[in-house]
Amino acid sequence: MVHASSRPLRSHSAGSLLGGTAAVPGDKSISHRALILGTLCVGETRIAGLLEAEDVLNTAAAMRAFGAQLERDQDGSWLVRGVGVGGLGEPDDVLDFGNSGTGSRLVMGMMATTPIRAVFTGDASLRRRPMGRVLEPLRLFGAEAEAGEGGRMPITLRGARVALPVRHHLTLASAQVKSALLLAALNAPGRTTISQAALTRDHTERMLRAFGAQIHVEPLETGEAITLMGEAELGATSIMVPRDPSSAAFPVVAALLVPGSEILVPDVMLNPRRTGLFAALRAMGASLEVTNRRDSGGEEIGDLKVCSGPLTGIEVPPDWAPSMIDEYPILAVAAAFAEGRTVLRGLEELRVKESDRLAAIAAGLKALGVSVDELADGLIIEGRGMDVQGGGLIATHMDHRIAMSFLVAGLATRDAVTVDDTQMIATSFPDFCDLMRRLGANFAEPD
Ligand code: S3P
Repeated sequence: MVHASSRPLRSHSAGSLLGGTAAVPGDKSISHRALILGTLCVGETRIAGLLEAEDVLNTAAAMRAFGAQLERDQDGSWLVRGVGVGGLGEPDDVLDFGNSGTGSRLVMGMMATTPIRAVFTGDASLRRRPMGRVLEPLRLFGAEAEAGEGGRMPITLRGARVALPVRHHLTLASAQVKSALLLAALNAPGRTTISQAALTRDHTERMLRAFGAQIHVEPLETGEAITLMGEAELGATSIMVPRDPSSAAFPVVAALLVPGSEILVPDVMLNPRRTGLFAALRAMGASLEVTNRRDSGGEEIGDLKVCSGPLTGIEVPPDWAPSMIDEYPILAVAAAFAEGRTVLRGLEELRVKESDRLAAIAAGLKALGVSVDELADGLIIEGRGMDVQGGGLIATHMDHRIAMSFLVAGLATRDAVTVDDTQMIATSFPDFCDLMRRLGANFAEPD
């Protein structure tokens, strides 16, 4: 149902192809971390290319509430004057993280070993998401938390009066939880070791190193163990935020699906723990060519050339999930237009993202006339080649990635696709609709 306050949008192929340069915004994960570590060091950190989207701006507001000084320079870069590890002040108001699981969970970790109190809340989607996964291990450091039913927000967190170092094995494949624990370890005495079976994104580890923390990563038979020296003194540095592969995913798949298209995505981050989607699309037969591969401030980047072409269904190995966890909605759209069956498994985590993504994707694809089996931990999608009917109204459930994925689908379906609300797109990719229109996408207000 479309509510009076929602902003629906209709996407249609209209026979036109996509072309040009898709300069997608800065990486969301790195942007949150740069603001947080800038706050935890002494001195001035300059951040170029920060993602100026709602999720990250909410983290910026929280950093101010903890005492950091933040300023946007005329050249668009951000300056953060930090308070140092252990120097956080107590926020005098509730911290509202909007839609952001990453911002809220990382900041819980950041304050968990400083003896201050903060209250965390967010929008209806974030208030439904499980927080026990981060609060439980933070208690090991000595933090205390009061949460709503099922460990949900609003949450009052009291940082440890006497922080303890921790040894903990994380069974969940979550970079957010791992990062929260590493941030907490910064103000605990001695060594903290966090191990994880899954190789989740490692931006926190890389950036901690850049800020001068003593951190050691030991590969294990399965996964890795990260040891961090606490009571750290972090020194200010400059951060260059590379472009977000998770945002690039939408124009990339659009260019693959719309016949005759060719686009370039410059300077996109190619950290191997984030590029699972590109590997999966290549396995489906996509033409994706990386040129100008280079290092940018400790992260690999490159330019990605994408040409349209037919795709074939595949079975995506479940252990690829951490490297493409946010990309399953758009991969599922690509699979709908592939020849043959695509099997996606090992995805129970998708049920607790901004929406229950397995349910939202399955319902959306069915509305387009695609046959899909929703499993407890995945999806089986019967690809229809370039013969997808479309025509449906897609329920986005306050989920930016569901909205963007189905707008992309509408560029290649027979009938136009309408998504019920596009407002949440501003949480990660405020320029999405304009960027896609500049490439040639036909997005219009529904009649
Ligand atoms: C993120 C980790 C992932 C991802 C999220 C960003 C991060 O969440 O879905 O969008 O920046 O650490 P989980 O760690 O919960 O899998």
